[in-house]
Amino acid sequence: MSSQTIQSVRGMRDILPPESDQRQQLIALIHRILGQFGYHNIDLPLLEKTGLFQRAVGDETDIVSKEMYTFLDRNEESLTLRPEGTAGVVRAMIQNGLLQQTQRFYVEGPMFRYERPQKGRYRQFSQISVESFGLAGPEQDVELIQIGQALFTALGIRDLVTLEINTIGLPAERAAFHQDLVAYLEQHLDALDEDSKRRLHTNPLRILDSKDVEVQRCLDDAPQLHDYLGEESAEHFAAVKRYLDALHIDYVVNPRLVRGLDYYCHSVIEWTTTALGAQGTVTAGGRYDGLVEQLGGKATPAAGFAFGLDRILLLAQTRNVFSEKRPDIYVLAASEAQQTTAMQWANRLREELPSWQIIMHNEFQALKNQFKKADKVHARYALVFGEQEVSAHTATLKNLGDGTQQTLDYDGLIAALNHEDNQ
Ligand code: HAM
Repeated sequence: MSSQTIQSVRGMRDILPPESDQRQQLIALIHRILGQFGYHNIDLPLLEKTGLFQRAVGDETDIVSKEMYTFLDRNEESLTLRPEGTAGVVRAMIQNGLLQQTQRFYVEGPMFRYERPQKGRYRQFSQISVESFGLAGPEQDVELIQIGQALFTALGIRDLVTLEINTIGLPAERAAFHQDLVAYLEQHLDALDEDSKRRLHTNPLRILDSKDVEVQRCLDDAPQLHDYLGEESAEHFAAVKRYLDALHIDYVVNPRLVRGLDYYCHSVIEWTTTALGAQGTVTAGGRYDGLVEQLGGKATPAAGFAFGLDRILLLAQTRNVFSEKRPDIYVLAASEAQQTTAMQWANRLREELPSWQIIMHNEFQALKNQFKKADKVHARYALVFGEQEVSAHTATLKNLGDGTQQTLDYDGLIAALNHEDNQ
C-alpha cells in the first residue's frame, strides 16, 4: 500500500480562512440585496437526471458535450452533478406546481464542470443563481441588472466590472441568421480556427464570441444578428437600454455576446472584468422564455443570471473590501477555579452583545502567555478572571489597544462595553 497522502480532486479546492470568512461576508451581502428585491432562497439537489441538462442547456454546448460529471448510479440511472443552477430551478418550478404566479427565487451552492483548472476556473465552483418566472417585460431584465449593479456598488468594485448586454432575439429570428452566417463562414473557412470550424455545424452562434483575432476580423463583414430581429425583439432591447439610461447604469452593447447555453432569447447579460486574466466573466445570464415549456411546463416567461462567487471574491480581494473579523473579547482564566465563572460571564456577554466575537482561551497557562495569545489574534480586549477578581465577583477588562484596564462587576462591565461600542 502506498504511504502517500491523498490529495483533493484536481480543480476542487478547500476554502479556508481568511477566504472562507470573506465568502461568508460576500454571501451575507448578496442575501441582503436579494432580500431587498424580494427573492427567496430555495435549496435543490446537487444531482439531477442527466437528461435535464441535455434538454435544457443543450447537447451541443461545451457544458453538456464535454464538461459534465455524469455517472450511472447503482440502479444504472444516468445522473449528473449540476453544472449550473437554472435547469434544476425550472424542473423544480414545474414539479412543485409553482408556475401559477410570479416567482422570484435564488439557488446557492456548488456547481461542477470538468474544465481545465486555472485561476478563477475550477471544477467545483459556487454560484448564486437568481431566477424569475412569469414576468415577460424588459423591466424584469433590468431588475436583474439592478441586482448586479447593487452588489458591485456595495462591494466598491463597480469600476472594475463592465456590464455587457446584447439581444439574441427569438429562435425563429436566429434560425434565419444561422443559415446566412453558416453560408458566409463556409465561404471563409480559411479564416476559421479549428474550434470555429467544429462549431460551424454544431453551434455556429458560438463562433461570434471566438477569441481568435482572425475569426473576429472575418466576422466584421458577416451578417449581423441585429438585422434579423423583428420589431418586437428590437423594441424589447430598446426598452432595456432606455431603462438602463434612465437609471444611470453604465453598459456596453456587445453585438457578439451570445452565451454558452442554449436556452436564452432576447436579453443576454454579462458582467466582465479585465482584472482576473482569462476568466473575465464574473456574473452572467439572460432571458429564457422558452425553457419552461421545453421542459414540459406551461409556457412561462423567465429570466435570470448567476453570480460566480469564486470570481467575485477574487475581484473583491484586489480591493481589500472585506473586514477582518477579529475577536472583540479574549477571555483569560487563571486556573480551573476561575474557569466556570469565566464561562458564565462569557455566555451572558454573548447573549447581550450578539455581534461580538468572544473567545475563551480554554487552557490554564501563565496569564502572561494567555495575554500573548490575545495579542496574537488581535483581540480588542482581554477579560481576565484571576483569583482576586472572582472572589470579589469582578473581572478585569484590559483594552489591548491602549493598555488601560479596569476591574468591574458584571453590570459595570456591560456599561463599559456598551459605552465603547457606541463610541
Ligand atoms: P454561466 O455563464 O455558465 O451561466 O455561469 C455563470 C457564472 O458562473 C460565470 O459568469 C462565472 O462567474 C461562474 N463560473 C462558470 N464556470 C465556472 C468555473 N469553472 N469556475 C468558476 N466560476 C465559474 C450559467 O450558469 C447560467 N445558469 C446563468 C443563468 C441563470 N442564466 C439564467 N439564469
